[in-house]
This record gives sequence, C-alpha cells and structure tokens, in this order.
Amino acid sequence: MDRVIIFDTTLRDGEQAAGGTLNVQEKLEIARQLEKLGVDVIEAGFPASSPGDFESVSLIAKEIRNSSVCALTHANFKAIDRAWDAIKEAARPRIHIFLSASDIHLVHQLKKTREEVMKMACDSVARARGYTSDIEFSPMDASRTEPKYLYQILEAVIEAGASTVNIPDTVGYAVPAEFGALIRGIFQNVRNISKAVVSVHCHNDLGLAVANTLEAIRCGARQAECTINGIGERAGNASLEEIVMTLQTRRDLFDLCTGIDTKQIYRTSRLVSDLTGFPVQPNKAIVGANAFSHESGIHQDGVIKMPITYEIIDPRTVGVPSSSLVLGKLSGRHAFKQRLSELGYSLGEEDLNKAFAAFKELADKKKNITDRDIESLVAEERRTVSEEYHLDRLQVTCGDQGLPMAGVRLFRPGTNEYIEGASLGTGPVDAVYKAINLCVEQPNTLTEFTVKSVTEGIDALGEVLIRIESGGVTYTGRGADTDIIVSSAKAYINALNRLLSARKIGEIK
Ligand code: KIV
Ligand code: ZN
Repeated sequence: MDRVIIFDTTLRDGEQAAGGTLNVQEKLEIARQLEKLGVDVIEAGFPASSPGDFESVSLIAKEIRNSSVCALTHANFKAIDRAWDAIKEAARPRIHIFLSASDIHLVHQLKKTREEVMKMACDSVARARGYTSDIEFSPMDASRTEPKYLYQILEAVIEAGASTVNIPDTVGYAVPAEFGALIRGIFQNVRNISKAVVSVHCHNDLGLAVANTLEAIRCGARQAECTINGIGERAGNASLEEIVMTLQTRRDLFDLCTGIDTKQIYRTSRLVSDLTGFPVQPNKAIVGANAFSHESGIHQDGVIKMPITYEIIDPRTVGVPSSSLVLGKLSGRHAFKQRLSELGYSLGEEDLNKAFAAFKELADKKKNITDRDIESLVAEERRTVSEEYHLDRLQVTCGDQGLPMAGVRLFRPGTNEYIEGASLGTGPVDAVYKAINLCVEQPNTLTEFTVKSVTEGIDALGEVLIRIESGGVTYTGRGADTDIIVSSAKAYINALNRLLSARKIGEIK
C-alpha cells in the first residue's frame, strides 16, 4: 500500500509554542518516545538558533537509530554548516532549509527580489547537498505565494538536489479545496516533481490544519508534517494523532498507510503534555479525556450492545489504558510494576523503587489509585531528575486571622547543601513563593497559575501548573501532591530548575 511519511516537528515547531520550552533531557525523552511511536522523521530543532538547540539536536542525532533526524536551518551557509554539525552522527540525517517565498514576506520582511531569493534557495540546497542527499526545502508562506513563482522555485531547488519539497501554509490561511488545488497544480506544473517527495506543513489558525493536510494527501502529497497534540506556533500545527487515525479509520477512502504504532499514541500525547505543560483539552479528538466517554443514555446503551454503534475507534487501538484495575494500599510491587507496564512505562530498577515508594505514600492518603494517579506519580518522579533545587521541607500556617507564614528548606544535590528561608505572604502560596525566592534568588514574574485535581474525590492528587517569565522567556513548572500548597511549591521549584538549566547552557530561545 502507498505510504505517507510522518514528519514530526513537536521538538521544533511544537516547542515554538509560547511557554513550551523544553530542556535537553526532556527533548531527548520525547525523541525516544517518537521513535517508539514509529515516526519516519523527527525534526529535532534549529541548531543555529541557540546553543541549547544545538546540544539537544546533537544528542538526539547520536541516539536515535530508527527515525531520520532532521535539523532546520535558514538559507545561509553558516546556519547550514551548523545544522550539519549537529546531525552528522545521525543514522539518517536530514537538513531542512526554509526561505520565504511570498511577495508579502519578500517585500516587507526579507527586502529581496524573487530572483535573489531563487538564487539563495539554490545555493543553499547545493551547499547542503555537499553533506547529505536527504535535503528538504520549504518555501515559507507557500500558500500565499504566486503559484507560478512557487513552481519555478520548486523546480530549481529539485534541480539543485532537494529530495523533499515542503509546502507550508505558514499562517494557516488556506482552506482545503484551495490547498488541494495548489498541490495538484504543483504536480501538473513542476517538470521534475517526480524526483522529490511532496510534503505539507499546515498551521491551525483557522482550525483547518488537519483538514488541509488530508486534502493535500488526497491530491498526492506523501509527507505530512505534524506535532503531537497539535502544539505549535500560535494556534498550533496539524495534529499527528488526528492525521494518522483518519488515514487508518478511513482507509476505505484514502487507501494509504503510515509506519505509526498507533498503540503508542496516547502515551506520547501524555508525555508531551506533561513535559511541555500544555494540557490536552478534554474534547480533543483521539487523545482528549472525553474522546471515548459516552454520556448520553442512548449512546451508552448502544456501546454496551455493540461498540461500533457509537465508537468509530476502539480506544485500545491508540493505547488508551482500560481503567478497570484500581490499585490501593494493599497492592504490592508486582501489581504496581505490571500496571506501569500496561500504561507503557518501563522504568529501571532505581526509578521503579522511587515510583513504588511514592505510590505507597500516596496510597496511605488516598484509597483508590487510578491510572491517572500513576501517570501523575511517574511524571512527578521524572521532574525531580537533574534538579538544581529540591523541595526538602515545607511548613505553612494560615487561616482567616493574621498573615500566612511559610518556612521552606531546599536541598541542592549538586553541592549537598540545605538552604532555608521563611516569609510572610498575602496567602499561603504567596508566602511559600517568597520563602523560595529568598533561597533561590532568581528574579521572575509569575504569569500563570492553575490548580486541577487529577481525579475526582476529596483525597485526589492536586496538580499545579505555573508559568514564570524571566528575561523575556517563559518557563513552565508542574507539581503534584495531595496537598495543593506542596504541589504549588513543587511546581515553582520545577519552573525555577528549568530556568536555571537554560541559563547554565546559555539557552536563549
Ligand atoms: O510554518 C512554517 O512555514 C515553518 C517552516 C519553517 C517550514 O515552520
Ligand atoms: Zn510551521
């Protein structure tokens, strides 16, 4: 069967989403999961944009063996050389060059003529061809580029050696019939188009990214650029899970396949949400909490009699765990380990011990431990890896009389020292954050603070998500505990740790 290449750009365009900064270890963890998911190409980052991006792309290129690892670059020699430097050890390296093509961009941003841009494009592709034969070229803002000029530039870059030509709807302006016609026009008018794979890259400003991608595929495109959970610049990119599951569910219409192991979809979605701090909306197709829950009596009746009545996808196909087994205080290590593995986690001995200890601690406070609790516990353990500061102790007094007061003790694993701080505040969280500030001394502004309960019930785990801003960059932090003041402290320390690790490697996103 004809195959669609799945090009995942979660680590590049996805990370461009406001507040979505990931550190090097987190990017590596996502890349490993994307490889497990079976994506063909991982766009790992933009090496010339920052030392942090260079480092993470290099690490991913060294480790990932089953997916191509792609580096994005401007159309200039220095950036291309830097991109190659980052991916040269990949099993299958790809260089992705982008350059604006629309008159809107040429006149108002690049201040260059069409001829100058055409030359830059060809020279850049030729330069990259000196390193590898896997070259992708993107004429940025293609959907607003005059088609005749687009055909010319595509023909020229293919001649210069591009093996994939990507058609970006950079500002999410196209509608499906129009975008499909553009792709058909490319097949009809670009003389050497059979020498390259036609790819599409759609943004979601009008909520049409997936629809445009699918229409382009119907018209002959064979690479889809997408992100997990549809995250990305502004309103995001086309969502991988929606494209893949549409192709699979409507194989009768498309007659196409992908190399994706769909059972890894849910797990990948959770990981990306957890590490980026972007929650998945409950009604999100395929991976939202309500995507497979039936509320109306008629629907429930139908699904009990025969799932196909109201369910077009078996939730197990995308790896949604069946939550029939609930663990509790008396559950042993073996049951816990088995549940973890059913949820797609394979922890090493040390991590398993830590997660099991956290599970036991939670089971003392909460009667039934659900899959969501376990996911939250594992995420909490993951967050404490390579910390600059760790919350060791926290004491708060508050009430409706007098000012809340907090005392904290933080541990620094790097230097083995403890630091203490105490403060009053307008509320308990304010007092805790001020006490932490006395210890960490990193000026920042709190821009977002959200608390949500992981499951129902008064004993539920409370998850706190915060964003802080420092030096024009936003850092996300998360924390979970049955006590929301403790979750708040953990989330703040998590955000500060990210800020400090970005400063350490000179990262400026
Ligand atoms: O949206 C866009 O045009 C891009 C390019 C770099 C492909 O992200
Ligand atoms: Zn984009």
